[in-house]
Amino acid sequence: MDVKKVSVFGLGYVGLTFSVCLASRGFNVVGVDVDTVKVKLINSGETPFYESKLKDLLTKVLGENNFRCTINAKEAVLNSFASFICVGTPSKPDGSIDLKYIRSVSRSIGVALKDKDDYHLIVVRSTVTPGTTRNIVKRVVERFSGKKCGVDFGLCMNPEFLREGSAINDIFNSDRVIIGEFDSESGDLLKRLYVEFYGDDLPPMLRTTLENAEFIKYANNAFLAMKISFINEIANICEKVKGADVTLIARGLGLDHRINHLFLNAGLGWGGSCFPKDLDALIAFSKKLSYNPILLDAVRRVNELQPLRAVEMAKKLIRRLKGKRIAILGLAFKPGTDDMRNAVSIGIINKLIEEGAVVVAYDPAAMDNAKKIFGDSIEYASSIVDCLRDADCAILVTEWDEFRELTPEDFIKYMKTPAVIDGRRIFHPKEFSSKLKFAAIGLGKFVD
Ligand code: UDX
Repeated sequence: MDVKKVSVFGLGYVGLTFSVCLASRGFNVVGVDVDTVKVKLINSGETPFYESKLKDLLTKVLGENNFRCTINAKEAVLNSFASFICVGTPSKPDGSIDLKYIRSVSRSIGVALKDKDDYHLIVVRSTVTPGTTRNIVKRVVERFSGKKCGVDFGLCMNPEFLREGSAINDIFNSDRVIIGEFDSESGDLLKRLYVEFYGDDLPPMLRTTLENAEFIKYANNAFLAMKISFINEIANICEKVKGADVTLIARGLGLDHRINHLFLNAGLGWGGSCFPKDLDALIAFSKKLSYNPILLDAVRRVNELQPLRAVEMAKKLIRRLKGKRIAILGLAFKPGTDDMRNAVSIGIINKLIEEGAVVVAYDPAAMDNAKKIFGDSIEYASSIVDCLRDADCAILVTEWDEFRELTPEDFIKYMKTPAVIDGRRIFHPKEFSSKLKFAAIGLGKFVD
């Protein structure tokens, strides 16, 4: 059994980054997707989305013939030892998880397995609610292959924890490998695969049930989202306390090694393709089981209100928003990406428009995606200066490095009335407050 022959189903963020990482360490990887355009694009060396280091690595592995993509599921299954399922698990309108892609890919793998004589390992890497691997993947594959899990094929659930912008590094330097296994043979084989991949740098490994592995991913994301909502709530209270500053409070908290400093940056809230979707899915999942998740609901509620703090601050600084020109610095859901999915900038801009403000926005990477969302309801600036010019108020929404270099003088020089809101705590509060109208998340009044 050659554990280094692998097929990866679903060439989105999770699947493509994982494929090229495996291939770069000598694995022979076949990527499978139903989207012919995407398959052609990747085979020609282009990536369907931007991710740091991905394009170079893709060029390398295509050149070495370790990676190729196809729409042919059967060929991929027959020519690999293990198939990783990396398809998307979007939300339904009620927030619950939509498993249609999981079902269809399980069916394709099942149909392909019918014609395979050798044992095959199936590994679910998509984020799925507890019970999905056993109740859906296993059953659908068994039905369409006519084979039996634990006898003819093995089954594992192996969640990923990669972040956009550092996905490649996150895979190579994973904190841990979680293996949920149907039986020990499946788990042993997946462990062998990771021993080949990581060599002497094998991360700590936890082997457990399929359900626990599925749950760990949700608990992980919910915990991180909770940490941010927690510090954002502390920030909101800080603003009412003379002499308080959330950045110092977070630093003090972070020195307690039981808490640590990561994911304690207060701001305008969390967004992206994972936290909102996964938290909603976990809440819907709990409710379906007749459990009311009070804390998880609160984590989400804090985050719904947090972006609107920027609008409230703008009202305090410049009073009426109607007819005022508001500059938005940063649109992507975080720096280092052009991704606008669930970006907090969307809620802020919509509220400003509702209040009658004229919005002008700039982002170093997300302008094209922003145009798809806002159309001609806002103005698009081609640079920071272009964005600030003649503005009545500037709101820093995404903490790109190039915004960190801005000084109070830059705002004074270009804006009509220099009023700045630091939604991500990147500006020096005393320096800015002394030179212009300034408000920041989690910053109370200065004590003299
Ligand atoms: C996240 C998880 O980190 C990752 O493990 C999971 O697999 C997918 O979801 P990602 O969505 O790429 O990754 O972004 P991340 O860097 O975690 O940031 C998420 C959001 O939280 C961003 O909007 C970011 O601005 C915000 N955030 C993060 C804060 O507001 N404060 C912080 O201290 C950290």
